[in-house]
This record gives sequence, structure tokens and C-alpha cells, in this order.
Amino acid sequence: MRKMPVTRALIGKVAAKTVHAPSGTLPLVIRGATITAATVEALCRRGIPALWVVDSLFPDFEAQEVIREDTRNLVRRSVQEIFEVAGSAKRRRASNLTESRLSEAVGKLVDDVVDNQDVVANLGRVRSWDNYTFEHSVQVATLAVVIGKRMLMTEDQLIRLGTGAILHDVGKVTVPLEILQKPDRLTPSEYEVMKGHARAGWDIVHEGFQNIMPTSSIVVLQHHERLDGSGYPQGLKSERIYIFSKVAAVADVLDAVRAERDYRQNHRPAEVLRIMQQDAGVKLDATAVKIALRHISLVAVGEIVRLTNGLLGMVTALNEGEPLQPVVTLVADDRDKPVAREQLDLMGSELQVAEVLDDWPQGLGG
Ligand SMILES: [Fe+2]
Repeated sequence: MRKMPVTRALIGKVAAKTVHAPSGTLPLVIRGATITAATVEALCRRGIPALWVVDSLFPDFEAQEVIREDTRNLVRRSVQEIFEVAGSAKRRRASNLTESRLSEAVGKLVDDVVDNQDVVANLGRVRSWDNYTFEHSVQVATLAVVIGKRMLMTEDQLIRLGTGAILHDVGKVTVPLEILQKPDRLTPSEYEVMKGHARAGWDIVHEGFQNIMPTSSIVVLQHHERLDGSGYPQGLKSERIYIFSKVAAVADVLDAVRAERDYRQNHRPAEVLRIMQQDAGVKLDATAVKIALRHISLVAVGEIVRLTNGLLGMVTALNEGEPLQPVVTLVADDRDKPVAREQLDLMGSELQVAEVLDDWPQGLGG
């Protein structure tokens, strides 16, 4: 099987795993079912970023995820609930149940990350859809906890960091949809409105959530602050930005850059690496960036990649500290002609991943 992002390219493929809806009991997709346009639409609506599909080239391949599917669903459901509470007209007092579900979700997420001995996080890419913010919140929380764990934070610290990261964009409920979903660049005045989400989120958490620690809610306020003082809402400099906020900022930027680069073209992970390295120590905490790039791969197991020499294959394993140099099983040459199956470990070689493709080129499999 192989991992595919949720796009129209999925139509006609066969699901290799059952996908449960974040809320509700009926599965969205049943293993063995052929995917239709309606399925793709349903997956998009629920914010599911990627799907495992049957692939004749890799019939027996299976990869492990960083956090278990049910943990991911739990976090996703909690995020949706929090956004509903925060956005409701009566607003904005979270019930004890909402708060306890949030702490259960964060606890499970931290457990999964702590238990996972895998050196490299294997995360799907997220695209910009209507409910991008939900899935983005799940990703940022996971990334932040992965980074925090490698910075040797205690479990208690990871829980507070994870809670802040899940809530980080909750203030976006106050931003009008036409700004939030605008596909083009925001005008300066629209950007000012968008920037308001940091302080609005902080207000929402303070007014509506009883049990959130200040070290979590500070992440909501500060996740757009930058070391050089160029961030918002307060333009704080490095020494006045709390460490959890710095870690969440790195997770936020990493996920946003990956999604943004994806938007119109094949994904080029080297570009993400370049942007992260450029900002390290200037805008983003250098240690957190270094750890992120060491422990979070920029490609995921199950993705189709083209290498810098044009060869085509699927990522079958990741290498710690080598975000662009995983282990790839080769499938085709630079003209998409099939080649003998061979596993190529890019670690230490001159080759790296040039781009990530959504699907095999025509005629190669699927
Ligand atoms: Fe934000």
C-alpha cells in the first residue's frame, strides 16, 4: 500500500485501510472500497490529510505512524469541539467535559510520542482546505511534542506544551471566513485582522477555559512572536518569549511552509529546509529548528519521490538527521521507464529527494 494525499487523484483507487470519522461511528471509508468523488469530498470536509491506498507496485508495504489513528482522531475531535465552543454565539465557556476530553487527548498524544522509539516522525502533509485549521492544530501539537521530547522536557511539560499547541490558533474563530480562506495574498488591512487571532485566542482561553495553565495559554498569545522582535502581537524579543511559544512557533512554521509549498505544485521539500534554516537563530529558536530538522523528516514513508538524478521511487524508511535522504525503493528511471526493484539508502550519498509526487506517472502502476 501507499500513502496518498487527499485530492481528486484518489478517485478510482482502492482504500487499503478503513478510516473512521473523527466524530460519529460510521467509517468514512471501508478497506477495499473504491474511492469516489463523494468520498474525496467527505474526507476533505473531515480534514483527513492522506489515505492509504492499494498499490500494485507495493502490495505488502505498510508503515507505522507516529501517533496511533485513534489518538489522532481523539485529538481531532477535541480540536473541533474547542473551535465549536469558541465560535458559538453564546460563547464561550467550555464545559468540564470539553476540558477533560482535551486533557485526555493531549495525554494520549504525549504517551504515543514518548512511547514511539522511532527516531524520525513520519507525518503526512496537510493541504489548505476549509477546515485546514483543525488538521493544522493536530499537526502542530504533534510536531511540538516531538520537538519538546527531544529537548528533554518532562512529561508534564510536554502536556502543557501540547495543550498550548492544540489551542494555538483558536482565535481564528474571530477572523471572517473570507479572510481566513482567501486564496490570494491578504491586503495589509486584512492581514491586520488576521493578526488579531493571537490575542483573541488568548482572550478565549482565559474567558472560557478554567483549567488551562498559564504556560499553555501563553503559547496561544505568543506563537507568532519572533526572536528578532518582528513578530506579533507584542513584537517581543527572544528573551521575553516563553520556551513553549518558541517550540510551537517552529512547529507552526514547519507545518505551514509544507502546506503552502504544496498548494499549486509538486512538493519540494528542499525549499522547506532552506526556509527553516534561513530563519533559525534569527526569527526561530535555533535549537528547536535543529531538533525539528533532525527528528522530523520532510518526506513521509509511503510517498512517491523523484530524486535529484531523476530516478523515481517510494520512500520505504527514514534516516535520522537526514530530512531529505531517506531509504527509497526505486521503481523507474528519469524517463519513467520501469527499472529493477532496488532499495537505495540515500544517507551519505550525493542524491536527495527533489520533489514529492501525488501519484505515479501514467502507466507506471497505482
Ligand atoms: Fe497562528
